[in-house]
Amino acid sequence: MSLINRSPAAALDAAHQVHPHTNLREHLDLGPTLFVRGEGIYVFGEDGKEYIEGVAALWCASLGFGSERLGEVAKKAITEIGYYHNFRGSGTPAAGLLSAKLASIAPDGMDKVLLQSSGTEANDTAIKLVWYYWHGRGEPQRRKIISRTQAYHGTGTLTSCLTGKPNFHQGFGLPFDGFLYVTQPYHYRLAEPGESEEEFSTRLAEELEALILKEGPETIAAFWAEPVMGSSGVITPPAGYFQKVQAVLDKYDILFVADEVICGFGRTGEMWGSQTYGIRPDLICAAKALSAAVIPISAVIIGERVFETMMAQSDHFGSFTHGYTYSGHPVASAVALEVLTIYEEMDIVGRVKGLEPIFLKGFADLKDHPLVGDSGGVGLIGAIEIVADKSTKAMHDPSLKVMARLDAATRKHGLITRLMGNRIGLSPPQIITADETREMFARLGRALDDVTAELG
Ligand SMILES: Cc1ncc(COP(=O)(O)O)c(C=O)c1O
Repeated sequence: MSLINRSPAAALDAAHQVHPHTNLREHLDLGPTLFVRGEGIYVFGEDGKEYIEGVAALWCASLGFGSERLGEVAKKAITEIGYYHNFRGSGTPAAGLLSAKLASIAPDGMDKVLLQSSGTEANDTAIKLVWYYWHGRGEPQRRKIISRTQAYHGTGTLTSCLTGKPNFHQGFGLPFDGFLYVTQPYHYRLAEPGESEEEFSTRLAEELEALILKEGPETIAAFWAEPVMGSSGVITPPAGYFQKVQAVLDKYDILFVADEVICGFGRTGEMWGSQTYGIRPDLICAAKALSAAVIPISAVIIGERVFETMMAQSDHFGSFTHGYTYSGHPVASAVALEVLTIYEEMDIVGRVKGLEPIFLKGFADLKDHPLVGDSGGVGLIGAIEIVADKSTKAMHDPSLKVMARLDAATRKHGLITRLMGNRIGLSPPQIITADETREMFARLGRALDDVTAELG
């Protein structure tokens, strides 16, 4: 083994830990990049090097890193009870209080909360709820779910099918039948020459309607979407997109499931991405920032018409036969409740709104950089797209390894970003200050300059 990182912890990791989303053979040789400490928006490597975590790790560490306050809450909950389940009407005060708090900040008409432990579980449960709903409504043939190309909704068996990325299907024999995909709303690359955002949105809504008609509206259960597509490159919807999509779904009485795993809790400048874009979801999947990512917990927030039908199903079957050992875990619930209290204290939505102009100016300034094609975002989430030629949008020759160079350069300058194809995402912890936001863009700018110089 020729580990680049040779610390004892790294050597054991390379030898034994199977890492998600990692080349397993290369990992044996390269070993992991380990982070040992965090403070505010910064994380520190094994060698003590400081990095701004420009993407809040996996778009999730909304309150940054290393929290004594949340540590105390977890300690108290572990000391008091540690665990109890919520099956068969049992539970703990924390899970109920958290559910009530979530309901109080959910969009109107969404009052019921089903707690889970991850974004994947929330989406997987939402698939079952969609099917349960249509069974309850007497239309069990409504099974098909429409997602979007390049969407990411998790990597469970069913959620991998929702995920519209062929590389998440290959080798697994997925997707199952009944998962359909419409074109993602990626105006920068997929619009026809001269097509406005509104025209592009109209075309995509027409594509959705054509698919529904081809499959038979009576077979379609739900449409699934992230308000802003995060891990497919931070794709913000073009003007009018969700209004036009929602109109099509309303016409055929199709459920809308909003995957707010990244967009929830102020990320887009409103509490929910659905509110930023005027979406009227039947179900919301929330995770990540629900607990500021310090402990695993997620939720499906359920709209009225779905819950009414779920109750009717209890009349029929006697019990809602779904749940996990860790659903509504008291320690995770207590921590998440405290996180929501912190969001209230810091006025997380107001804070993101206040920072948004500075964040978007950072992207606007980068538009002139020779390596940057697309650049922009919403709230505190955005991305740049790296191109070889701004006018043709041509990408660099892969042999130049431009993205790997940019990754190395940003890290050299003390910034961690998210690379997605030829896009670089930023989504910093929402505790970031105005000065730190400017510093994050300064570091990104230095990295872009370095790579421009290297490429000659
Ligand atoms: C939009 C979205 N949905 C679902 C998931 C899956 O969440 P988890 O990794 O917690 O299972 C993710 C993870 O990044 C996500 O970004």
